[in-house]
Amino acid sequence: MLFKQATIEKNAILMVVLTLVAISIGGIVEIIPTFTNETTIEKVKGVRPYAPLELAGRDIYVREGCYTCHSQQIRALKDEVERYGHYSLAAESMYDHPFQWGSKRIGPDLARVGGKYSNDWHYAHLDHPQALVPESLMPRYAFLGQTPLDTRLIERKLRVSRIVGVPYTDAQIANAKADLLVQADAAGDNDALLKSYPKAVQASGKAGEPTEMDALVAYLQVLGTMADFGSIEPAKMRR
Ligand code: HEC
Repeated sequence: MLFKQATIEKNAILMVVLTLVAISIGGIVEIIPTFTNETTIEKVKGVRPYAPLELAGRDIYVREGCYTCHSQQIRALKDEVERYGHYSLAAESMYDHPFQWGSKRIGPDLARVGGKYSNDWHYAHLDHPQALVPESLMPRYAFLGQTPLDTRLIERKLRVSRIVGVPYTDAQIANAKADLLVQADAAGDNDALLKSYPKAVQASGKAGEPTEMDALVAYLQVLGTMADFGSIEPAKMRR
């Protein structure tokens, strides 16, 4: 040893300096390797940017403050995984700006609500939650079904998402409005849409008249459905 322990303990300044040295070694060991990683988010097959209607629905989700009652983050704990499904992966929210993990659970977690219910269920539930779940505390959102969706900015929304790193292609940006209208229309021809945005769920709206509710339902129906779990090593669950 360079110094005797008693010497270090009795000299406050020396103690502070050596403590700082010890802590910085720990910091360097932890921080430096992250600079050599291109990304700390593991790639997961299937995760794609939101389709235009889903993106518009997400904005309504944020505007209405759904996150004040619903989280979107399934933790790697046994009870959560049993209730909601596979715990959330970082890659699943990599195209969310900002992410909707949330910290409030007045209602259930919504990270994997996509595909859990039919479109009809969602429309009826948003219209009047207590009609389906009598003890529900959730407010009514019937007005969303009567509010036409403002589609004027959709192309620009995709463009701005691209600036912050969401890999929309030029073609996807150019087709934003058309893709949105097809997905909102219950009878729309969605072949091209599905090629561009696999697993996109068509809302149940009327042709040419998308409502805010159509957008919100399309968004809810894709939540947690994108990741291809066949491509992921199952990690051990904490108990
Ligand atoms: C005041 C709190 C509150 C707010 C705000 C709220 N919810 Fe809920 N939500 C609940 C509660 C409580 C439940 C559970 C009872 C039920 O199904 O209605 C629920 C259930 C749900 C479910 C069913 C989840 C499941 O797995 O069964 C969905 C979907 C949902 N909410 C979507 C939304 C959306 C979208 C918004 C915003 C437009 C929203 N909620 C706003 C409290 C809230």
